[in-house]
This record gives sequence, C-alpha cells and structure tokens, in this order.
Amino acid sequence: MTHSTQDKVFFITFEGGEGCGKSTQIKRLVDYLTTSSSLKFIQTREPGGCPSAEILRDLIVKSQENEWQPFTELLLLLGSRIEHLKNIIQPSLLNGIHVICDRFSDSTYAYQGYARGMAIDLIHSLHQQLKIDIKPDRTYFLDIQPEIGLKRSKRRLEQSSSKEDRFEDLDLDFHHKIYKGFHKIIGQDPKRFCVVDASLSEDQVHAIIIEDIKKTWGC
Ligand code: TMP
Repeated sequence: MTHSTQDKVFFITFEGGEGCGKSTQIKRLVDYLTTSSSLKFIQTREPGGCPSAEILRDLIVKSQENEWQPFTELLLLLGSRIEHLKNIIQPSLLNGIHVICDRFSDSTYAYQGYARGMAIDLIHSLHQQLKIDIKPDRTYFLDIQPEIGLKRSKRRLEQSSSKEDRFEDLDLDFHHKIYKGFHKIIGQDPKRFCVVDASLSEDQVHAIIIEDIKKTWGC
C-alpha cells in the first residue's frame, strides 16, 4: 500500500528568539487549518502543554534570574517535556492527530546549551536516556534579530499582566547567543527547518508558512 503525504501524522514546531511572533503565527495557522481543512490537530506549547507540565512552566518562566542553578532549570524543562510527550504529544500522534507545538527541544539546545553554556553532549545524552529525543517533522524558525525581537517582546509584556519575563530580562549578549545557537542547530539539520524572515509583515510571514504547510503537509 502506498501512503500519500496526507496519511502521515505531522509533528510541527515553531521556534525563535523572544518577540519573533510565534504566538501570532501559530494562532493564524490554527485559524487557517480550522476553517480551510478537515485535518485533526492540536495546538500545544513547551514548557507546559499539560497540567503537570504547566506547573513546571510557572516555576521556570516566572522565577527570578539566578533562582535556579542552570542544571536545575534544565531538569525542570526536561521534566516538563517528559510529562508533555507522554500525556499529549505521543498519544495524539499515535491516534492520527497532528501536533503543532510552540517550542520544543531546539529551544533547550539554544537557550540552555548555546546561551547558558551547558554541554550540548549532556543535553543530547539526557534526551536519549530519558527517551524524549523525538524530532519534529518540520520546524518553522521565525528569524528576527535579537534587538528587534526584544523590543517587541518587552512592549507586549508591558501591555499585558504576564509575569513571564524571566528570559526577556537577560542581557542582549545572552539573546545573541540564543540566536547564533539556533542558526547552528539549523545548519546541522537544514531539511527539517523552514526559516522565515520574521521582520516581514504578519501577513507575509503567514503566507510563507501556509505555502510551506501546503507543500509538506499536502493539505
Ligand atoms: P515562550 O515565551 O516562547 O512561551 O517560551 C517560554 C520561555 O522558555 C522562553 O523564554 C524560552 C524558554 N525556554 C527555554 O529556555 N528552554 C526550553 O527548552 C524551552 C522549551 C523554553
């Protein structure tokens, strides 16, 4: 029996630095798929994505800088990933439900590895040992210079009551390391990534993503 692209169940992730516009673009993609396709999918996020992992998310993103040792922060993130994978991602994919996830392990390599300086080999080995080293089928990287992204992100935080400012508070150098880290990761696995210039207008970014989704997803 031959399988068309439509038989495949997709695990899609969105990645990028602070203020790259992921949330807006994920919302627009979800609206598009809801109105223009009959595909079954869920929208989720990391850290978090299920009740137990959301508890860990709060500990991570609402804490003060230096509240956690870098290794503790990494373990909290991996704990969140274990919960999310076992409770949401894997059961969904097994049941033929596509998964659209806001951040996944690429963020761990970029933030905790390349930016915080934890050994990449250690992060990789922990993912393997914990059996959470699954790779998304396609990752949309919203590419924005840290200077521009941080300005956008701080504006958004000022307009909301969100206390999730842990990473936005870190200095520009840290955000440049994240940016370079993401580009290293993309360079190691270029076929998985669709890199989108996130300085384009919201409509233009959306159009690029939809075109790619139609091509790879066949919807
Ligand atoms: P968000 O603001 O895009 O929802 O992401 C929450 C924060 O968590 C963001 O600043 C990036 C950070 N993060 C990590 O540091 N490592 C990770 O593995 C993940 C998934 C997120």
